[in-house]
Amino acid sequence: MSQHTPALAIETAGLVKTFGETRAVDGVDLAVPAGTVYGVLGPNGAGKTTTVKMLATLLRPDGGEAHVFGHDVVREADEVRGRVSLTGQYASVDEDLTGTENLILLGRLLGHSKPAARIRSEQLLEAFGLSEAAAKQVKHYSGGMRRRIDIAASILNTPDLLFLDEPTTGLDPRSRNQVWDIVRAVVAQGTTVLLTTQYLDEADQLASRIAVIDHGRVIAEGTKGELKASVGAGSVHLRLRDPGRRPDAERVLRTALTADVTLEHDPVALTARLSSAAGDSAAEQASRALAELARTGITVDNFSLGQPSLDEVFLALTGHDTGQDTGHGSKDEVAA
Ligand SMILES: Nc1ncnc2c1ncn2[C@@H]1O[C@H](COP(=O)(O)OP(=O)(O)OP(=O)(O)O)[C@@H](O)[C@H]1O
Ligand SMILES: [Mg+2]
Repeated sequence: MSQHTPALAIETAGLVKTFGETRAVDGVDLAVPAGTVYGVLGPNGAGKTTTVKMLATLLRPDGGEAHVFGHDVVREADEVRGRVSLTGQYASVDEDLTGTENLILLGRLLGHSKPAARIRSEQLLEAFGLSEAAAKQVKHYSGGMRRRIDIAASILNTPDLLFLDEPTTGLDPRSRNQVWDIVRAVVAQGTTVLLTTQYLDEADQLASRIAVIDHGRVIAEGTKGELKASVGAGSVHLRLRDPGRRPDAERVLRTALTADVTLEHDPVALTARLSSAAGDSAAEQASRALAELARTGITVDNFSLGQPSLDEVFLALTGHDTGQDTGHGSKDEVAA
């Protein structure tokens, strides 16, 4: 790769990493525009962390090339290290130190004077809603607080490129939202973010472009809109009052939505997969379907509108699911 574009924060060609028989990363090509959030979406074992570690110069590639801001990650590893920061899936702050102590220690290691390190730590603890927990040992932090202190630690010096490896896995919805706000704030400061996630809705919330990876390969890449167009707009799940009306409901949904309708094991439940080609939003399609069911005299007890889950993305892209229970299609339950 001799003509890498400076406007790209990351550019890889045919990147490979093997562990014995396992091709953890198997020829990955990425082009990450500077100043954006780029999502790398994939299930457990897809190769996300291995890719990030090679880009952050923590692992040496076995094949292919990677450039970060035009610098080769192997030959110019020092230049790369000077511009990146990594918040790992398994984080790096010291459990026995308090929030303040951690940030001051790391600030000192980065060469800040003692007063400068203290001021920066106070700023970050405040910005991340951790002022009250500042004097507590990190081992007493909740999962969400822990994730926030990890990210704070990684932006003590504002990096040009921040790797966030599954920053919200295992967090409750409120903590996820807090982390998302932090990511948005970091990007607003001009930092490029490479975010790995197992959640389509997270990539959708934050990323401008998304690469879907599976078994160490990029299986789809594009803007969120392009990805969604290839996957569908999500699905409506319905529960009827009367199981006897389910065949009618199925017919109405097929006609009203021209959607794939699945009959669930539960005799009153059915699911219609919405089309993104229909021209109207998932919500509009769902309300059209409900109106049509009401007109036909079919009582709906409950419905929910679900975004496509990672499993549905994989099903659409590969014809098979992820082979795991990611369990995270975001659903807005509404009692009808
Ligand atoms: N140090 C290692 N030694 C041997 N195999 C490894 C090592 N690191 C990763 N692997 C294997 O490489 C593959 C990719 O792993 P990786 O950790 O990159 O996946 P991931 O996408 O980050 O998954 P997760 O979502 O579970 O974090 C897996 O099959 C994993 O078992
Ligand atoms: Mg990982």
